[in-house]
Amino acid sequence: MLARAITFALVGLEPRRVEVEAHVQSGVPSFTLVGLADRACQEAKQRVRSGIKSAELQWPGNKSTVNLAPAELKKEGSGFDLPIALALLAASGQIPRDRLAEHASCGELALDGRLRRVGGVLGVAEGARRAGLERLLCAHEASSEAALAGVQPVGVRHLVEAVAYLRGELEAPEFVAGNGRARRPPPDLADVRGQERARRALELAAAGRHNLLLGGPPGIGKTMLARRLPGILPTLEEDEALEVTHIHSVAGLVDPEHPLIGYPPFRAPHHSASTAAIVGGGPRLRPGEASLAHHGVLLLDELGEFQRPALEALRQPLEDGEILVARAAGSCLVRCSTASTSSSPCRDPARPSWPPHKEKDRRRCGPGCCPLARDSPRRLLRERPGPRSC
Ligand SMILES: Nc1ncnc2c1ncn2[C@@H]1O[C@H](COP(=O)(O)OP(=O)(O)OP(=O)(O)O)[C@@H](O)[C@H]1O
Ligand SMILES: [Mg+2]
Repeated sequence: MLARAITFALVGLEPRRVEVEAHVQSGVPSFTLVGLADRACQEAKQRVRSGIKSAELQWPGNKSTVNLAPAELKKEGSGFDLPIALALLAASGQIPRDRLAEHASCGELALDGRLRRVGGVLGVAEGARRAGLERLLCAHEASSEAALAGVQPVGVRHLVEAVAYLRGELEAPEFVAGNGRARRPPPDLADVRGQERARRALELAAAGRHNLLLGGPPGIGKTMLARRLPGILPTLEEDEALEVTHIHSVAGLVDPEHPLIGYPPFRAPHHSASTAAIVGGGPRLRPGEASLAHHGVLLLDELGEFQRPALEALRQPLEDGEILVARAAGSCLVRCSTASTSSSPCRDPARPSWPPHKEKDRRRCGPGCCPLARDSPRRLLRERPGPRSC
């Protein structure tokens, strides 16, 4: 018998419909999974088998084939476990096939049949809404996140609950949408003593959404000031908050209790970050730090230490507000309009007590301090790719 479950795969941030087809026929007992599934997805075979057996449901003992269609689209991650299990159960006549076809589903199965939340639930829910499906079967903790897309989440804790619900033996678990907004993190500009000019620069950058380069002697408070920039940005509008939450959901960074990110995000990648980590990409086409800081602040602390290709790659995205990442697996467009702040040390040559720098330390010299002042703010401004400071 043949049955279908519907789910969505994310290409970048875009949901693509995936039909999980299960076919159970008589023959030598076997379980085959086809349809360009990656390793985590292939491992679903073991999780689904154990999950179904632990839930005291009947494992289809015959020859079972599962196809993830369309076969040319790469399927990644463990979110296909639930639709695979449900399609197999429908194909073996344990749940009604037509009721399953009215629902989208996603979630990872534990070996004991419990359901775990996966990243990108908001994207899957968005795909379900666009496809005209009103209900999404997902892990209980992912209900609030799924509800943000406007579908009715059916949050279940165990495969047994999902099966009982689809058989009509259990009502859809009650979901009350609460105030899902995450609270603003604490750093506050009021903590900074003095620094009138720097604070004014921060306020101007916040008001005009300008980029900002902070320079000064070590310990003067550059990092401290930059970390407080998100605190003076206004909270996000509803559509901005959804856009930011969507990006964070794909990266698995959403708080299940308060999924909606209503404040400007703050990202401060380490200077050793690769180009792909900053602008996004990699084999799985994931959003990078610039996209995670969309509508918020991207701090490049110790700017001079960042790899030049990473800074070059940021130049166009910071001007255009979006990144088109193209890879062999596909391409994705990610929004990334951020106020970038950069902090870079420079020594003050006017200080008589400042020791002269050794040759190996000259990369961190200030204006006029050493002949090789490579990281002087003037030189950084002249040579640094991307937007200029305000
Ligand atoms: N204006 C200030 N008001 C309150 N605390 C300050 C101020 N300036 C510096 N500090 C204190 O000094 C510490 C060091 O500041 P911070 O790390 O921001 O300096 P920095 O300029 O980034 O130094 P570096 O160039 O070494 O990175 C802060 O954590 C804070 O406790
Ligand atoms: Mg610093």
